[in-house]
Amino acid sequence: MGSARKVRVAVVFGGRSAEHAVSCASAGLVLGAIDRDRYEVVPIGIARDGRWVLTSGDPARLALSPGTSPSVEAVAEPGVSVTPAAGPGGGTLVFSGPAAVPPELGQVDVVLPLLHGAYGEDGTIQGLLEMAGIRYAGAGVLASAAGMDKEYMKLMFATRGLPVGPYVVVRDRDWGTSPSSLERKRVFDEVAELGWPVFVKPARGGSSIGTSRVDSPDGLEAAIEEARRYDRKVLAEAAITGAEVECAVLEGADGGPPEASVPGMIVVDPHSAWYDFEAKYLAPESKMEIPAPIPLDAAERVRSLACAGFDAIGCEGLARVDFFYTPAGEVIVNEINTMPGMTPSSGFPVMWAASGLPLPRLIDRIIATALAKPGGPS
Ligand SMILES: Nc1ncnc2c1ncn2[C@@H]1O[C@H](COP(=O)(O)OP(=O)(O)O)[C@@H](O)[C@H]1O
Ligand SMILES: [Mg+2]
Repeated sequence: MGSARKVRVAVVFGGRSAEHAVSCASAGLVLGAIDRDRYEVVPIGIARDGRWVLTSGDPARLALSPGTSPSVEAVAEPGVSVTPAAGPGGGTLVFSGPAAVPPELGQVDVVLPLLHGAYGEDGTIQGLLEMAGIRYAGAGVLASAAGMDKEYMKLMFATRGLPVGPYVVVRDRDWGTSPSSLERKRVFDEVAELGWPVFVKPARGGSSIGTSRVDSPDGLEAAIEEARRYDRKVLAEAAITGAEVECAVLEGADGGPPEASVPGMIVVDPHSAWYDFEAKYLAPESKMEIPAPIPLDAAERVRSLACAGFDAIGCEGLARVDFFYTPAGEVIVNEINTMPGMTPSSGFPVMWAASGLPLPRLIDRIIATALAKPGGPS
């Protein structure tokens, strides 16, 4: 064995968002697949209250299944807290707690922020790591923030000529305080113009949490209130009829253009009406059909729009771009996820595996891309 030390990777997961459990499940898959001969892994959890802690990193304890919701709190090493800090020659993670923690553990080469949703996928942890001078994988501050916010994501897509569906943004100010306010009536009128059904969702949400399908005006107010539990800004979108097709993207190797996987099509468990949280992570019969059973030219369009979406927000590292494929053969962009789910039922790892890149090599590629960068804002 050579004397060169292994690349030290901090896998950071959990976090303050509603997708805490999904992030734990993503970490479970990655911790189980990462090549331990090449990487020394430091598993760091962010508890729901925002504390950073060292964790056991045991993949078996991070699985998400009906009746069990994994959490950082359940796998934390007692008493060991972690703080990112700037230092001479680069940032470090400072561990404090029992003497058993070796101080060099903090000299990580790269952080893999496997966090979904707010305070993780939205540019905030990226900004914190930039400030501390710690290298990290995936999208930077701007792309993370833009990809997380479904309003600005659509604006950036539309500016680049990507096809997006009709929608209405409901801001705090538009909602007003009284159910009978003029502001609120204006919202109802605007949304009604989209036609029914509509999907109502938190602007910066994920995993379908807080999202509802509304079939008639009667359910609109409750759906907006539900979405507002997660975000003061809410989107109502015209429901698009069609299959959900997803495509995984990686930043090009050696500065080349982004590369798209073979697209997959979501097959929703027949017991679910749409692709809600239950259908995504818990329903046994939800699956992805790869390649998506769509004509070749439509699949090519999906792949090229996925790369265009990646570039439109200035994304780096990895992303999953999601589409609707309508009965008329149109391809409409739904959203981009700058830190796509990596759970066993998630499309990103499965589509890359089907495209010839099994998970350990996919992880290598994501880490290598991050290590090849000079550091600092791109
Ligand atoms: N405009 C829409 N038309 C049809 N279905 C939608 C629409 N918006 C959302 N959905 C459904 O809700 C799911 C979650 O919405 P999405 O915008 O992807 O948010 P999230 O970030 O939570 O994944 C989608 O996968 C789809 O099943
Ligand atoms: Mg989605």
